[in-house]
Amino acid sequence: MKENISVNLVNTARFIPYEEVIALAQKSVRHLDALNAGTGAGSDFLGWLSLPEQILTQMDRIERVAKHLRSVSDTTVVIGIGGSYLGARAVIEALSHSFSSLLRTKHHEIIYAGHNISEDYSSDLLDILEGRNYSIVVISKSGTTTEPAIAFRILKDHLERKAGKTIAADRIIAITDSSKGALRSLSEINGYDTFSIPDNIGGRYSVLTPAGLLPIAIMGIDIRAIVKGAAAMEESTRRNKNASVNPSLLYAAARNLILQSGRPVEIIASFTPQLHYLAEWWKQLFGESEGKEGKGIFPASVDLTTDLHSLGQYIQEGQRILFETMISVRNTRKKITIPAEKDDSDQLNYLSGKRLSEVNLQAETGTVLAHNDGNVPVIMINVPELDEYYIGQLIYFFELACAVSGYIIDVNPFDQPGVEAYKKNMFALLDKPGFEEAAKKLKERLK
Ligand code: PA5
Repeated sequence: MKENISVNLVNTARFIPYEEVIALAQKSVRHLDALNAGTGAGSDFLGWLSLPEQILTQMDRIERVAKHLRSVSDTTVVIGIGGSYLGARAVIEALSHSFSSLLRTKHHEIIYAGHNISEDYSSDLLDILEGRNYSIVVISKSGTTTEPAIAFRILKDHLERKAGKTIAADRIIAITDSSKGALRSLSEINGYDTFSIPDNIGGRYSVLTPAGLLPIAIMGIDIRAIVKGAAAMEESTRRNKNASVNPSLLYAAARNLILQSGRPVEIIASFTPQLHYLAEWWKQLFGESEGKEGKGIFPASVDLTTDLHSLGQYIQEGQRILFETMISVRNTRKKITIPAEKDDSDQLNYLSGKRLSEVNLQAETGTVLAHNDGNVPVIMINVPELDEYYIGQLIYFFELACAVSGYIIDVNPFDQPGVEAYKKNMFALLDKPGFEEAAKKLKERLK
């Protein structure tokens, strides 16, 4: 049996006694119970808890559709924003070649759209798509989000003009609500193949639904291994009432005790650059789930060692308002050894013969110790290797920890009322019908 990812609290002990973490984690078993019984806040959105089994019935179809798109096109544009974008991108970037778009070997390309409204980005994208034989996967649970809706309108028009309506319809897959929303009706009118995001799963918890798994499968990644990893994590956390060996409870408890010690900023850090988008996904998961009612930890991220030459100075010596969560990946997928040089003119011969991973590991250890000396608590999350199975584990581990953490600070971790504020203003400023009153007030303010 493969070992699990684990949480190590050696570098938080100076700031929050281990016994207190265990006590809060043990007390938080009641939040696990509330999740399992569906008696806590947001209980209409708990479908993700059992996704590792529920999704198995759809795997064949997801793989079949992925294979079809791979066979009829060389590129897929994945359109979506927030929870309908970040999960897929996090997994794809973590498990793909770091320079996949530059590889000479024939492979399928994924391009993202609908996560901004930049005219230049969209125009550059159309330039690229002119020379591509592409498909579209458009993802929006509500089916009404402005950013992906605009991108889809532009790309659908482009694809229909380029390939013709019939071929375009064969190459467009919509992932949306099972019955409601503009995207659902558009799909019915145009005869697109569709997948549903279940009513009881919110966007940021949807990576193990077709919203995440279809784009990941299109990239040729083994989605069954991801789900297997998530299932193993579910097995060791969801009903595990022994807090000292339940990583999700330990992590949720530790970060909240650190918050209570006066550190409201959590920086997720890693020496594995492939995890950049996993950090983006994590920021959305925790930021949208906890940041409400004037509460919550502000989630930030750094890529190391890159940012040691940038934000590293602040982490070491700036305001003591932060703590770090280090995702430490033990084994690399590939091997490179530092060569020796006869005259040692760059004075690096003391490293010759060493693997880069060994140097990276010592950089990580040195950084953790330095930050600790600078009064930064560091939670370590140890990951044996970066593969499908452990990405699945990380996803479930963080999702469960986030839900428990939200309950610890007494917020509903499954809603996002604050996201509406900018939308109302944008609609009013764009003269959307129904927003006339708000438009008048805003335009007055802007005079
Ligand atoms: O987590 C969430 O619920 C949000 O981030 C949504 O995923 C995001 O707003 C996109 O929504 P939709 O999928 O409805 O287009």
